[in-house]
Amino acid sequence: MMKQYSETIPVQYEEGRARFMGMDVLVDPRVLIPRPETELLVEVAAGLCRERGWTSPFILDVGTGSGVIPLALTKLIGDCRVIGSDVSEEALCVARENLRRFDRERRVKLVVSDMFSAFAPEHEGAFNAIVSNPPYVSDRDYEKLDAWVKAEPWIALHGGEEGMDHLNVLARESGRFLAPGGFIAVELGYDQAQKVKDRFVAAGFTDVTSFTDLNGYERVITGWKHG
Ligand SMILES: C[S@@+](CC[C@H](N)C(=O)[O-])C[C@H]1O[C@@H](n2cnc3c(N)ncnc32)[C@H](O)[C@@H]1O
Repeated sequence: MMKQYSETIPVQYEEGRARFMGMDVLVDPRVLIPRPETELLVEVAAGLCRERGWTSPFILDVGTGSGVIPLALTKLIGDCRVIGSDVSEEALCVARENLRRFDRERRVKLVVSDMFSAFAPEHEGAFNAIVSNPPYVSDRDYEKLDAWVKAEPWIALHGGEEGMDHLNVLARESGRFLAPGGFIAVELGYDQAQKVKDRFVAAGFTDVTSFTDLNGYERVITGWKHG
């Protein structure tokens, strides 16, 4: 018998898995389904680590969800170690199971944290890179989302009235947790590039650069902390 899928339950939840950077990862309604745009974020971050010749960088992934970013970074970058943080303990249960399945438990640590709240002060200046695919959908855009997108956790999508709440915190606070010469790389919404670049420059990041997705949107922005 052919499997029947509900109209509003994404097929990845029905099947309990999603494809990300060549890996079949566990997903369920506790986590966002990973998107191709996030593969760009991972490729950019891994590429910058490679360019710098970093073989064992220490990386923080803020809002790790199912843990796909740490899984992919540990696949692409030599001996990197990653902390994946999330405010959702439910999401971290999924991430924990993915780390177990891919045998990454020694290289990736999971932390419950509302943005950076669990990190000060022992992690100040500790990370070579901070990456994040934060919730960035605005009130207005949330209303327009298809029902099957709304089946994903609201907390994983909604970034406040303008969609900028988490991106603003990342711009403001990441510098404190980056080592000198480290970088931040974030994913953002289709119409947020200029705002995010302005916030990064205002926060003192240098060489602020955007990377374009397959649809021509500036989807990833990076900035550097003075070395
Ligand atoms: C867009 S999802 C990204 C999930 C995963 N990194 C990915 O790319 O598929 C955003 C994640 O941020 C988490 N999040 C939401 N608010 C947060 C907060 N205040 N602090 C930390 N994480 C938060 C959500 O639980 C969700 O897992």
